[in-house]
Formats: sequence, C-alpha cells, structure tokens
Amino acid sequence: MILTSKFVDRGEEMKYLENKYKSGKAELILLYGRRRIGKTYLLQKLVKEFDGVYLLAEESENVLEDFSNILADKFNDVVLRENPLRSWNAFFSYLVEKSKERILVVIDEVQYIAKGEKGFLSILQKHWDSSLQYSKIMLVLCSSTVSFMEGVMSYKSPLYGRKTGSWEVTEIPYYYLPDFFNLNLEEIVRIYSVFGGVPQYWSSYDPNKNIWENMRELVIEKGSRYYEEPKYLLKMELRDVSRYFAVLRSIAQGSTRFGEIANKSRIDNNSLGKYLSVLEDLGYVVVERSVRAKKGGIYQIKDNFFDFWFRYVYPNRANIEMGMDIVPLIKDDFNVYVGKKFEELARKYVMILNAHGKLPEKYESMGRWWHKGEEIDIVGIGKRTLLLGEVKWKTLSCRDIENIIKSLEQKAEHIGHNSKEKNYLIVARKINCKREGIAQLYDLNDVFSPFPR
Ligand SMILES: Nc1ncnc2c1ncn2[C@@H]1O[C@H](COP(=O)(O)OP(=O)(O)O)[C@@H](O)[C@H]1O
Ligand SMILES: [Mg+2]
Repeated sequence: MILTSKFVDRGEEMKYLENKYKSGKAELILLYGRRRIGKTYLLQKLVKEFDGVYLLAEESENVLEDFSNILADKFNDVVLRENPLRSWNAFFSYLVEKSKERILVVIDEVQYIAKGEKGFLSILQKHWDSSLQYSKIMLVLCSSTVSFMEGVMSYKSPLYGRKTGSWEVTEIPYYYLPDFFNLNLEEIVRIYSVFGGVPQYWSSYDPNKNIWENMRELVIEKGSRYYEEPKYLLKMELRDVSRYFAVLRSIAQGSTRFGEIANKSRIDNNSLGKYLSVLEDLGYVVVERSVRAKKGGIYQIKDNFFDFWFRYVYPNRANIEMGMDIVPLIKDDFNVYVGKKFEELARKYVMILNAHGKLPEKYESMGRWWHKGEEIDIVGIGKRTLLLGEVKWKTLSCRDIENIIKSLEQKAEHIGHNSKEKNYLIVARKINCKREGIAQLYDLNDVFSPFPR
C-alpha cells in the first residue's frame, strides 16, 4: 500500500499505540472500526515507525503461506521460505520464538482467519497463556467487522481476559476536513454532509470537480464505486439485511420516533427494538434525547454517508437503474439536508467550546431540546445560567439575529429554570452584523477553528 503524504488526525490513536509499544511488555491489542475508516493506514504507519510485521488476512486459501513468505522476508529466514508454516500452531510457535526482543506484529482483517479456521482464537489463547504473555510481543489484531470484535471481547470468547487494550477507530472530526481539502468552507460542509468523517471517501473525492459530479462518479450512478456501499458494509456484519434497510430508510426519511419507524418499516415493536439496538451497537444509529430527558428520544443515523445514501440513493434505486440522473432531485432538497448536518456539526462545535470553558459556565447538560412542538437547537442548563442557541445555514443580518433571540426568549419559558440568567448563542453560515454584546455569535470560520491555535 502506498502512503500518500497526507496523514490527518489520529494523534490520540498513535499515542495510544506508541505507548503500548514502549511498555516493553507483552501486549495484545484489539483494534476495530468500520471499513474505510483508516485502520490499516494507521497501523501501517505504526509498523513503519517500529519496523514491525504487517500481515493482512484475506479471503484466500493460502493465508498461512502468504504469512510465511512475509515472515521469511522480515527475518531473512531461508528455511521458512522453503518450508512454509503448515498450521496456526506452527505460526504462533514461530512468533513465540521471534518475540524474545520487542516486536510488533499486526494481523489485519483477522476475522477472515477465524472464519476459515474455527479453532484459531483457541489456538492463540493456548499460546498466549503458555508463552506469548511472557514474551516481548506486541500483537495487534485488527478487524473491520465490529460484531466479530465484540464477540472476541465477550466472556464467551477464548481470548476473554487476555487483551491488554482495545480501541475502536471512529470518524475523523469535521474540523480536519480543511487539512484535507483546499476548498471554501461552505463546500467543505457540503462534502462533510455527504461523506462524513470517513477518510477513504475524502480521498476518493476529486476536489477539481464540483460536488454533483463527485456524487455521480462515486455514489449515485449504477456501478459507481460506493453505489452499494451500505449494503456491502452491513452484509459484513449481519446475515439478513432487509429489515435493517427498512429501518434505516425510515429514519433517513424523517420517521425518527420508535412508533413512526415501526409503522413505516412494518416491523413489530419487539423485533424493532432488537434491530435498533444492533444498529446502535454497530455505530450506525444513535438515540437523541431532549436535554435532561431520561427516556423517549428519537433515532438518528450517525454516519452521514449512510444518511445521505438512505435519503437519496436507496429510495430512488429503480430510477437510477433505469439510467436516470437523480441530481435534480437531490438539488431540490439538498439545502435542507445540509442545514440539518450543519446543525449537528454546530452542536459538536458548541460542545467543544463548553469543554474548553469558553461559555458563560461549564454546562453539565447540553444538547437539543424539544417539547410539544417547540424546539431549540442548543440548550445548556447550568447552575447559574441557561444557554440558548440557534443554528442557521444562512447569512444573518442584525435584524435576523434580534428576531432569533426574541423567539428563543419565548421558547425558553417552556424549559423552566426561569430564575436563571439567560445567555444567547448563534451559529450561522455567515454573520452580517457588527453589533457587539447581543449574543455570542459564530460563523463558519469559527466553527472550523474550534481550538485556539
Ligand atoms: N489519517 C488519515 N489521513 C489521511 N488519509 C487517510 C487517513 N486514514 C485513512 N486515509 C485514507 O483512507 C483510505 C482507507 O483507509 P484504510 O486504512 O484502508 O481503512 P480501513 O483499513 O479502516 O478499511 C486510505 O487508503 C487513505 O487514502
Ligand atoms: Mg483495512
């Protein structure tokens, strides 16, 4: 694999892995996360830094032979080259022998091995218990199948209690996008709305073409690279995806309460609960609750790419298959969609401000608030103060801002906490108002530089 010069974010992940390496002790690390999120890229960097061994398991018949060749190269082992390892027992024995010194070994997409050889995890466990745990190996097992890794970590697994660490690699935060694209921030918000924080989609995106052309080339045309992506990703995790598809489609099209999803997807309540919790575990769906609410809540698709796909591609597949260009269809609705994504993004930004003490006080409860048809984009309930925030994907004048504040004031009556001092916050695409002191005002430039640099 070629490492391009761009390597964004992942500082925390690198530090975590480097510290594990420097511990000098035997380490068994489980690293997982959805395909395309950047696991291999990260591990390759680590392997390069510490001169480790990178083994990629594929759905091939000769995994052991492939691994033997790589190990033979790495250790200049002529005997091994002539006599490839014949069993996983022999493989781990070989690793035991090679781990008298500190050595990093990565096995990527390990679920393929476990699928082909049912006893694989037990064999590893046996070697771990008898010798590897006393050696100097740092063994990283990596998988794109989240459900597989959850199995490996569960108490039923042979490896239960053996791992010395685990890490789920998740999306790259939105504010790294400008490190990746030299484009204006409005365009970057649009890209983020479609492709989320998944670096492989970023690297597939051609910045010399506009977003519509990129959509066509990557997602919304039959045969394009990511046309069937969600199907492919879900099939890695689940046996029968059709029900899950119905659930995700309902949510993407705005049926977000439990009852609404049940109606639209025609799944009975008991089963729906199960499907939703599986999708939550896999990281595709989140429950969002009104600030301080303990139950209820609405379901949202967490992964922007999935949200986009289930909103525009999946419902229009028949048209697409007939060769129809769905860009005009998307254009009609896209501003609303991006507005929703910008609101989520702005909420993340305000959470960061809160964590860094940039708000009137540190709010323990903060998020969206709604009650009986009234809704506020951002509410923080603190000891002394109430924070009321609105997000707008447009340009605001002083007049707009005054109106927003008036309406926030009115809505705030319904939250309670009337004795608390009220503070107002507005995040907008652009702000055309120089007046100071009316509210905390933030525009796109602020949102994309969340930390003082
Ligand atoms: N930290 C990063 N910075 C820049 N590009 C990245 C980063 N991580 C991943 N990529 C890009 O995304 C692609 C897919 O990443 P990869 O590591 O293969 O994903 P995974 O192994 O999780 O499926 C890489 O080939 C690279 O182009
Ligand atoms: Mg990979």
